[in-house]
Amino acid sequence: MSLSQPHGGILINQWNPDIQFDGITETVELDEIASSDLDLIGTGAYSPLSGFLTQIDYNSVVATMRLSTGEPWTIPITLPTTESNAEKITVGSLVKLVRDGVVYGVLEVSDIFTPDKMKEAVLVYKTTDRDHPGVKKLFERPNVYIGGKITLIQRLPLNEFTSYHFDPVETRKKFQALGWKTVVGFQTRNPVHRAHEYIQKTALEIVDGLFLNPLVGETKSDDIPSDVRMKSYEVLLENYYAKDHVFLGVFTAAMRYAGPREAVFHALVRKNFGCTHFIVGRDHAGVGNYYGTYDAQKIFSNFTPEELGITLLFFEHSFYCNQCNSMATPKTCPHDARHHVILSGTKVREMLRNGEQLPTTFSRPEVIDVLIAGLQQQEANSVG
Ligand code: ADX
Repeated sequence: MSLSQPHGGILINQWNPDIQFDGITETVELDEIASSDLDLIGTGAYSPLSGFLTQIDYNSVVATMRLSTGEPWTIPITLPTTESNAEKITVGSLVKLVRDGVVYGVLEVSDIFTPDKMKEAVLVYKTTDRDHPGVKKLFERPNVYIGGKITLIQRLPLNEFTSYHFDPVETRKKFQALGWKTVVGFQTRNPVHRAHEYIQKTALEIVDGLFLNPLVGETKSDDIPSDVRMKSYEVLLENYYAKDHVFLGVFTAAMRYAGPREAVFHALVRKNFGCTHFIVGRDHAGVGNYYGTYDAQKIFSNFTPEELGITLLFFEHSFYCNQCNSMATPKTCPHDARHHVILSGTKVREMLRNGEQLPTTFSRPEVIDVLIAGLQQQEANSVG
């Protein structure tokens, strides 16, 4: 076995810092989501995409979970702009992709179209409820989409995460240098608690390495900030993981909270980074009660293993059982729920804010210390 082939067969490279853009007059302003998407398209993380979705691909992805060429692709990667800006742009021209006055890329306009956002919400997010953070974002973004091939000129500024930022070409080299033939990717937008650690290490028993790939792009405001999370991953890895079998690198995409559809997207992108396996546990990329606990696993049955090109490792809801004295899942534990240590995200955040120690059966003490310090700092900043 060797590392996974990129989705679609070749790793896309649309990064060229030498492109001249002085003669291009029209611009599209990038928001935080589009900035990270541009960087990920340009460096091949979204292979086979070489640009923002054209209308035919957009319609196909929304309706069928595939690109118009047939490859599985479940999340529309779009470039929204306002009606008034769209009127200035013509099909066939080049536009500059700008954020805070910096030109990050150019795009060859092949389509300008008005999407049916209600349809996008229903089919991609399974709800039109504006309380859903992904749906809220979808409707907040401007109403016209520009499709076309991009060239990435300027890389996404990452500040404190630069040392953990690797493009697919680099992660592939790294995995090879570590001698790993099989690598399991792990997506997370949370601190790694005992349940996450358990499923990661269970997976590690059958593969060579773990690619811990926390998402550090835009998340909803009550998720734990990525800088605090990064510190929590560092102390965890330092104290509890075998160094030759884990590699930490950030995933710069925005969180969509699209549950099942996002799970497929997350798996395909990790394939591009070289992973051969990918973990999907309970309610992957979910929020609130919009998705069934295992919907993000069931969705993969829409595709053949060959089409996916990455092996999925599905895990049931895991927890510490005080009777078993170990981590377990409903598959391995016969005891009833009162023996299980299960805390909701809201409860965890409340306890952390109050500086309360969470049970060590829920999270490692070193991780808790980092989270409490991070949240207290955040509160001090917001007061000061
Ligand atoms: S996510 O939005 O990035 O998916 P999170 O960081 O909570 O959220 O989850 C990361 C991965 O761990 C996902 O695959 C999720 O399904 C899985 N997971 C989280 N908690 C549990 C748990 N208690 N039991 C099993 N899997 C879990």
